[in-house]
Amino acid sequence: MTGWSWEYEGYRPADERLRESLCTLGNGYFATRGALPECAADELHYPGTYVAGCYNRLTSEVAGRSVENEDMVNVPNWLPLRFRRPGGEWLHPDTTPVLDHDLRLILCSGLLERRTRYDLGEGRALLVHQQRLVHMADPHLAAMRTEFTAEGWSGTLEVESALDGGVSNAGVARYRDLDGRHLTHAHSGGDDPGTVWLRCRTRTSDIRVGTAARLTVDAPVEARHENPRAVQRVRLELTDGRVATVDKTIALHTSRDPAISDPLHAAVARVGRAPGWDDLLESHLTAWDQLWRRADLDVPGESGRILRLHLFHVLQTLSPHTADLDVGVPARGLHGEAYRGHVFWDELFVLPYLNLHFPEVSRALLRYRHRRLEQACSAARAAGRRGAMYPWQSGSDGREETQQLHLNPRSGRWLPDHSHLQHHVGSAIAYNVWQYCQAAGDAEFLHTKGAEMLLQIARFWADAADWDPGLGRHRIKGVVGPDEYHEAYPDATTPGLDDNAYTNVTAAWVLARALELLDVLPEPRRRELVERTGLDDGERERWEEVSRTLHVPFHDGVISQFEGYGDLAELDWDTYRNRYGDIRRLDRILEAEGDTVNRYQASKQADVLMLGYLFSPAELGDLFGRLGLRLDDATWQRTVDYYLHRTSHGSTLSGLVHGWVLARARRAEAWKYCQEALQGDIADIQGGTTAEGIHLGAMAGTLDLVQRGLPGLETRDDALWLDPVPLPELSSYDFSLRYQGHWGVRLHLESSLLEIAVPDSDASPIDVRLPDRAVCLAPGETARLFLGE
Ligand code: BGC
Repeated sequence: MTGWSWEYEGYRPADERLRESLCTLGNGYFATRGALPECAADELHYPGTYVAGCYNRLTSEVAGRSVENEDMVNVPNWLPLRFRRPGGEWLHPDTTPVLDHDLRLILCSGLLERRTRYDLGEGRALLVHQQRLVHMADPHLAAMRTEFTAEGWSGTLEVESALDGGVSNAGVARYRDLDGRHLTHAHSGGDDPGTVWLRCRTRTSDIRVGTAARLTVDAPVEARHENPRAVQRVRLELTDGRVATVDKTIALHTSRDPAISDPLHAAVARVGRAPGWDDLLESHLTAWDQLWRRADLDVPGESGRILRLHLFHVLQTLSPHTADLDVGVPARGLHGEAYRGHVFWDELFVLPYLNLHFPEVSRALLRYRHRRLEQACSAARAAGRRGAMYPWQSGSDGREETQQLHLNPRSGRWLPDHSHLQHHVGSAIAYNVWQYCQAAGDAEFLHTKGAEMLLQIARFWADAADWDPGLGRHRIKGVVGPDEYHEAYPDATTPGLDDNAYTNVTAAWVLARALELLDVLPEPRRRELVERTGLDDGERERWEEVSRTLHVPFHDGVISQFEGYGDLAELDWDTYRNRYGDIRRLDRILEAEGDTVNRYQASKQADVLMLGYLFSPAELGDLFGRLGLRLDDATWQRTVDYYLHRTSHGSTLSGLVHGWVLARARRAEAWKYCQEALQGDIADIQGGTTAEGIHLGAMAGTLDLVQRGLPGLETRDDALWLDPVPLPELSSYDFSLRYQGHWGVRLHLESSLLEIAVPDSDASPIDVRLPDRAVCLAPGETARLFLGE
């Protein structure tokens, strides 16, 4: 394996779905799993194609209840291409002996290549060599070149290619009781057998989907319209040892696309205009080259190879094409159906990376949130609150999409789901607005859409906080924190917890930033906002007061995850580890035993420790100071230890946050958690979940770990702050950034040296701050800064 490719050798049915996820190809507009084209969806294989932002809502009956779910739709499958000898069975790795099989994902060129030799018996074989791309320059195109070679025989090979509209969402076993038939009215056609089309629409969101396929082959093509499939067949006359090539080019449009008349005609016209394989490949390679240059990251060794894979999947989900779309950050990429393509707080782990390379993509992702601000305000109103209450899970229109019931696969029980009480998602959006504007220097966004979101989120927090005269503090009650295990107090009849420290501290941060922003807004704009939102001095005073008096509970000298956390029972971790081995999903284990994780001091993932992920020690100290509290290093270190021993890491985000926080605290265990984050998807650490889609937050988070975490990089007060904490295992590497109009600011980190090179341009100098010095770097200048001097 080189640093630029991922290879899988041999056909291993049990690994197919995992490989399909990790070999997904996409371009930000759509993505297709790396399934073998001759295999239809079954227990082992799951071809899936997803268009960003294409959702559909269906109602299903489960556990005697009617539940509604919105899903990112599996659109018609463009992959099918199967082959057989006349009169024989279609060749398939589960039924035909396979002599060799390998799959190669080539990151630099965005290609998926496979080579399979099927054993036809009596010393005869068929070699199938296939290359596939989802076009990075033209986001509506994909193509596949298949080369067949007869080995030890000559004769006819029948090849059948199809566009299949008979697909459903069936990629996640836990969702199988739910209706997954999102497509309807599939209809196929085509005037010329060389090009066929298939159109259909989603059942309730009424999104029309048009696909067209062109087959280029040196033999007559016969077309058949077998709704819901458009089929093309050819008979290849193979000569022993000679290659016969079939090129399949497809175009995909939906009625959500701009600049089209209708999706079907757009797809047919586009596939008609598309050049041949060689030219398509060339423009695809150029587009990938440009992406790699903009996201330049050079980390040596195995970590660097994994980071490149993570970068590849981040860029395939959120590419420059995303900047033109109305979409959010899908938690599991466009790579599978887990979490239904919903948008959670995970953008908190993704945007900080994008801000410094593709700020226009960050802006588009924030605009997705801004377009749904009105919906968030009406959700707050419906809950009796002011301001904006963003949904925990968001999809098409920004209403709350969190499932009402979820299945515990261990017990087989459908259980009520209270995770929608994770209102902290609003603070994540506010944090991203702030971070993006600081990194990109986008005052226009900050003063307009950014300010509108920030103010309404702040307003929600101020309104959600109630004064407790006994405590002399404001409290936010009835929420769920990032650790989703705890949804209620033991024996409580209503869900929700009080004074979640993460929620309260981030709420205080949002209120403080909103006040700061109001102070710096240009007067006419402030006036507009005040007029539009009805914000008065009284409300500003309240924000000020709440931002200084929110309650942050402590117990035993550590920050409490929420009020009462310290009173919960201690879990006998060793017993559970011995009994079950993998206890990441302790919630499911305990529920299946008839118990509940709500009773224990046991967390799924970083909750309090998230504060150390979002804020530098200095910033966190100031934030606590504003709340009239003292957070010294000893208290923070005790808090880190406390939760480290009480967390099961049931989310891929957990390893990442712990690695980041421990590295910043200069602790030896940091690398173990960074490794977890790096291995999360490639080793499928959460046991089978990667097959249902990659974990985009953790993937992007690892990129940000080397970009901001280890160099201690912050973009605030119009300066680039650096405070490196190199890990011995990851101490020397290079990367470049786009910062406030400078393209390609290059940073080189090497244990005690930090080198920064600013490219030549007309932009203003960059103000660089280290803990012990400040330097101003003009375009064209390079600084070699020795650390600890
Ligand atoms: C995590 C959440 C995350 C979600 C989507 C869950 O398992 O606990 O924090 O937002 O996955 O990635």
